Amino acid sequence: MLPTDAPDLLIQGGRVCLPDGSCRTMDIQINQGKIIQLAETLEPEPGTTLISAQGLTVLPGVIDPQVHFREPGLEHKEDLHTASCACAKGGVTSFLEMPNTRPLTTDQGALDDKLKRAAAKCLVNYGFFIGATKDNLDVLNQVNPTCGIKIFMGSMHGPLLVDEEPILDQIFSRGDRLIAVHAEDQGRILERRKQFSDRQDVAAHSVIQDAQAALNASQLALKLSKKYQRRLHILHLSTGLEVELLRQDKPAWVTAEVTPQHLLLNQEAYRDIGSLAQMNPPLRTAEDNHLLWQGLLDGVLDFIATDHAPHTLEEKAQPYPQSPSGMPGVETSLPLMLTQSQAGRCSLAQVVRWMSTAVAEAYKIPDKGAISPGYDADLVIVDLQTYRPVLRQELVSKCGWSPFEGWRLTGWPVYTVVGGHIAYDRGELKTQVRGKSLTFL
Ligand code: DOR
Repeated sequence: MLPTDAPDLLIQGGRVCLPDGSCRTMDIQINQGKIIQLAETLEPEPGTTLISAQGLTVLPGVIDPQVHFREPGLEHKEDLHTASCACAKGGVTSFLEMPNTRPLTTDQGALDDKLKRAAAKCLVNYGFFIGATKDNLDVLNQVNPTCGIKIFMGSMHGPLLVDEEPILDQIFSRGDRLIAVHAEDQGRILERRKQFSDRQDVAAHSVIQDAQAALNASQLALKLSKKYQRRLHILHLSTGLEVELLRQDKPAWVTAEVTPQHLLLNQEAYRDIGSLAQMNPPLRTAEDNHLLWQGLLDGVLDFIATDHAPHTLEEKAQPYPQSPSGMPGVETSLPLMLTQSQAGRCSLAQVVRWMSTAVAEAYKIPDKGAISPGYDADLVIVDLQTYRPVLRQELVSKCGWSPFEGWRLTGWPVYTVVGGHIAYDRGELKTQVRGKSLTFL
């Protein structure tokens, strides 16, 4: 283990969520960024920084496996620093970021540039996807380090759109790295855009990019994954139809994720927040919310991602279809899910699994996703007693809004610890803290 400049930390008296799913009041000793010891009571060594976690709950830091942080090229919406501040405030200690930046992350040079930028300005740990185009087949399996290959099968334009089956087939046939798909059928979307061209209300978004469009693409990805036994991950799965597809037929090498938005919001949201509710794949029906929850509880869906995709309020205020798709998420995802668990919809242990442990397992990120000796000290300490609303003026994401404004949530982070450094301390961001590049085995 390399020495780090992280201080020795002792977290005292918190209710600690352990790998066996139980929670116990314990102290946690952290040295050089690693969890060293857990015990009922531990004596602080001289020089140790103390955190009192009495009345609070200690969880493994959230690993958000799908975010769009906009740097380089789209920094007016967000940048790696502001996004990582939002992460630290939301209890997200690691993120996996998508390639639709400018330039696109489609080669080693662009990946290296992102890694360099992240090292200079991210408060939390980072990993990046490599984007598939029809021309970079060889690069996809060579670049390093990357969490996997991202394919936009739909809802994209330019080189990152890969919607032709022969090209998809080639990508699935070569290499063994994880392939993560945005599964929407571009052909069907284009047809339906024409068919519904008279509609300018944002609710048309869910009609045009309908459930069948998502199902078609998920079916195709699954078919190719089975043909080559290729590791497949379905990003932000949004429909009951796709849950049913996977419930019937989910090979051991396939995983799927769902967003808090698709679990907790549906088409009704357009009425209240208009285009702030517009995302890809779109929000669906209340029945889909129910079936996605069922899929998550049953283990058909494996984990949770925010798809944090910020746009400015000015951009969002344009009339549909000029209004861009996407919502921010990293600041609210953990409190949203913890509020659900406090309401009895799921257990605390399930939230920990879906937002940390299962992600570390799926992306093979060593020493993360659990509070256990030898693991990295990436932790979030939350308050499960107090309820507070999501307030626009408190958000630190550069876009400055949330689709969940006004929602009264519990489980807000009080401290976030990244590699043994306190990155968020009772309302204050420690902007000098830096995360590390994630490793993928
Ligand atoms: O709504 C979305 N917005 N979905 C995506 O997959 C991309 C994202 C973006 O980058 O804005």
